[in-house]
Amino acid sequence: MAQKPKDPKNILVTGGAGFIGSNFVRYALSLRPTLRIVNLDALTYAGNLANFHDLPPHQAARHRFIRGTVQDWGFLEALFSEEIFDAVVHFAAESHVDRSILRPEAFVETNVVGTFRLLEASRRQWEQSGKCEHFRFLHISTDEVYGSLGPQGYFTETTPYDPSSPYSASKAASDHFVKAYFRTYGFPALITNCSNNYGPYQFPEKLIPLMILNIIEGKPLPVYGDGKNVRDWLYVLDHCETLFRVLDEGKPGETYNIGGGAERENIEIVRLLCDLVDARFNPSKNTSSRHLIRFVTDRPGHDRRYAIDASKIRHELGWTPKYKFEEALAATVDWYLKHMDWVDSIRTGEYREWIKRQYKEA
Ligand code: NAD
Ligand code: TYD
Repeated sequence: MAQKPKDPKNILVTGGAGFIGSNFVRYALSLRPTLRIVNLDALTYAGNLANFHDLPPHQAARHRFIRGTVQDWGFLEALFSEEIFDAVVHFAAESHVDRSILRPEAFVETNVVGTFRLLEASRRQWEQSGKCEHFRFLHISTDEVYGSLGPQGYFTETTPYDPSSPYSASKAASDHFVKAYFRTYGFPALITNCSNNYGPYQFPEKLIPLMILNIIEGKPLPVYGDGKNVRDWLYVLDHCETLFRVLDEGKPGETYNIGGGAERENIEIVRLLCDLVDARFNPSKNTSSRHLIRFVTDRPGHDRRYAIDASKIRHELGWTPKYKFEEALAATVDWYLKHMDWVDSIRTGEYREWIKRQYKEA
């Protein structure tokens, strides 16, 4: 049963059909030729099997997809009696702040209850298999648990939790359960708290893909408040790389903050996206898409600034982001322009209803 931590063979990935999860699954299958992944995902509006449409057969053969929810105890029991895992990487969550403001309950169900049940199922298997010393439970969390920064300072791993939205409160609660499982049972869990991700396969309810698609379609670009809220942007493939470092070399019980070191105001991002799309999509257009920008009513409880101090992961695990923000953002724009078929396949009726409700479209 003992596996080397650097070479886990059978990983359970939850939420592996979502944005970061599917990038992680694709990255992991190509990085580790003997790795097998069991991908457990409820396929909510945010999960899409279209994210795997082009997996080569030798990778697809090592990818078992199974539809189910992390809060379904009977389902987890059946899965954990069928499969033995060397690691669990837990992405599954309700992830959009605006949706959590409108309907918080699903955030408690999935992010809190679901994380608790997954921890419990994982702990039981770990104990039954003799507390295998190389087993790891990696919980993917967010910098939003730390609340809002003013113009100065950074979030470190010891910054007190101070969540503002039902989303960040539910992630904070799940982090506390993970920490408690380490302290109480010695369960070998680790937490990563990362900043805002961007890149391919991001569902177009989040700032960057929403703006790219609205620019392409000539729709208004809704910027909340004064547009000066700051996020610290992390390219999703940088994130996936660092998650493997944490799995391989991270210390159980520890938390690692992961940031892209690219702080930008929202309005800067939206202007940059206008310029990038204009240059690619319609270079002859003589009016800039920036005229589509609309400052709209602010999000309630809108955190002003997030910024990560990533010195712990840099010093202890030797990780720094590889991708430069402007280049990776341009690559992201190119990806969406080349994958409008993917966009069409995931923009369901539910998505259209959400956009209509959130942005009061006619
Ligand atoms: P996402 O919304 O794109 O994907 C979430 C996935 O989880 C979807 O495939 C969905 O079907 C699945 N899911 C939802 N409820 C489920 C349930 N009950 N059981 C099983 N599967 C379920 O989210 P994402 O952006 O890929 O985020 C992944 C993780 O990273 C989340 O835990 C999120 O809190 C965290 N995170 C994301 C960001 C970001 O910028 N996207 C930043 C920090 C942390
Ligand atoms: P988002 O992508 O929802 O991520 P998060 O809320 O987790 O940081 O939003 C990123 C920033 O962009 C945030 O400050 C809110 C802002 N925003 C807008 O201004 N307009 C929008 O339509 C959206 C979705 C977000």
